Formats: sequence, C-alpha cells, structure tokens
Amino acid sequence: MGRDVIVACDFASAQQTFDFLDKFTGRKPFVKIGMELYYAEGPEIVRQIKARGHKIFLDLKLHDIPNTVKKAMAVLSNLDVDITNLHAAGATAMMQGALEGLTRPDGTRPLLIAVTQLTSTDQESMERDLLIKEPIDQVVMHYAKTAKNAGLDGVVCSPLESGKVHDVCGKDFLTITPGVRFADGDVGDQKRVMTPAQAKEIGSDYIVVGRPITAAADPVAAYERCVAEFVD
Ligand code: C5P
Repeated sequence: MGRDVIVACDFASAQQTFDFLDKFTGRKPFVKIGMELYYAEGPEIVRQIKARGHKIFLDLKLHDIPNTVKKAMAVLSNLDVDITNLHAAGATAMMQGALEGLTRPDGTRPLLIAVTQLTSTDQESMERDLLIKEPIDQVVMHYAKTAKNAGLDGVVCSPLESGKVHDVCGKDFLTITPGVRFADGDVGDQKRVMTPAQAKEIGSDYIVVGRPITAAADPVAAYERCVAEFVD
C-alpha cells in the first residue's frame, strides 16, 4: 500500500456513516473506524464498510496483558481490516503477542501501528501522572524504536514528527498522521497542524483527515482535494 488519505469516520451510528459514504460514487476512500462507531455498532460495521469496497484502519488502540491482546488481535484479523493499532506503552511482550495473534494461518496480517504518547499528553502531565521525566519528543522516538524492534509496521504521530521518525526508524517504518488541515480551513481543536501538501513533503505515509472532509459542504470535493495534494 502506498501513500493514502484515510478519512476518519467519527460518526455515532451506522446510518450516519452510510449516509456519508454513499456520497462517494467514484473512488472509495480508505476509512478509519474509531472506538465510538465500533462500540456503537460492533464488528458488523467493519464487515459492512469492507463489503462496500473500502480499506479499513480499525483504530481501537489496544492496551492490556500480552495474552489478552494476542487473543483480541486474532479476532480482529478475522475481520479482514487493513490496519489496526495498539499502545506502545503496553511494552514489547504485548506488541509481540499482538503480532502473533494478528497473523493469519497463511502468514498474512493487517499492518500493526503503535500509538506513542497521545497528543493530549504534554510534558507536564507525563511527568506528574506517569513519572516519565525525559523530554516528550525523546519519549515518542523511544516508543517508536521499541515498536519497530518488536516488529511493528509504524506509528501514529504528528506530521511534524514524521521526518524524525523516519530518520530514527528508517524510511520503511510507516507514519500515520492526524492533525491535517487545508491552508484556508478551520484548525478547530487541533494544535499542531499541517496541510496535506506539507505532510507529503515531510514524508508522512498516510494522513488521517476527519472534519475537513466530514464537515465540508462538499465532502467528496474536500476528499479529492486531499488526494490531489497528498497522493497525486
Ligand atoms: O477531525 P480531525 O481531522 O481532527 O480528526 C482527526 C482524527 O485523528 C480523529 O479521529 C482523532 O481522534 C484522530 N487522532 C488525532 N490525534 C491523535 C491521534 C488520533 O486527531 N494524536
């Protein structure tokens, strides 16, 4: 899979999601299903979106003991998603367990991506609540290296971190980056943003775009604009 735009379908129900996806009569976007939609609708929503011809990033951010994560990943691998993820904070044994669970009998598996430090965590809360004293950018790079050494395929990170992650972990280690906004668009609650073109320039492999597409007056045109800036 090459560079692509992933549309964050942050909807509360299957109906809203299908109303949105029905607009895409041409190219079928790569879709991110997060906790809200998955917990509302269950695994059937994944099967239904897949059956409509979309690739799927299932963003459930698993974090538990290795055996539990391994078994949960085995269930997710049967859903035939293309990308899924976990928290690198679960440590190496959990990430290796996840890979074992995710791998199908024929040796294929979805891409497995690590979340490093959530962007909602800052230096102060990391030191105070997690007792991690190192600078947060070093922590993020250390988590990325640990994920790579465990055999994972990449990390979710800010587009501003993509270049550094590639320097530290190699060009083939994937970076999936939210926080993308059009130059003339609303930033909303995202703090550190880049345009699709800037994300391409810095080397992001996938961008995850939600509201600039889902809340646009013409979502298909907004999606095509992202593709034109980031992929083509
Ligand atoms: O609407 P917006 O483009 O801000 O959506 C970005 C998507 O990426 C949302 O699904 C959000 O939960 C997700 N995300 C993020 N920042 C992170 C990790 C995930 O915005 N650090």
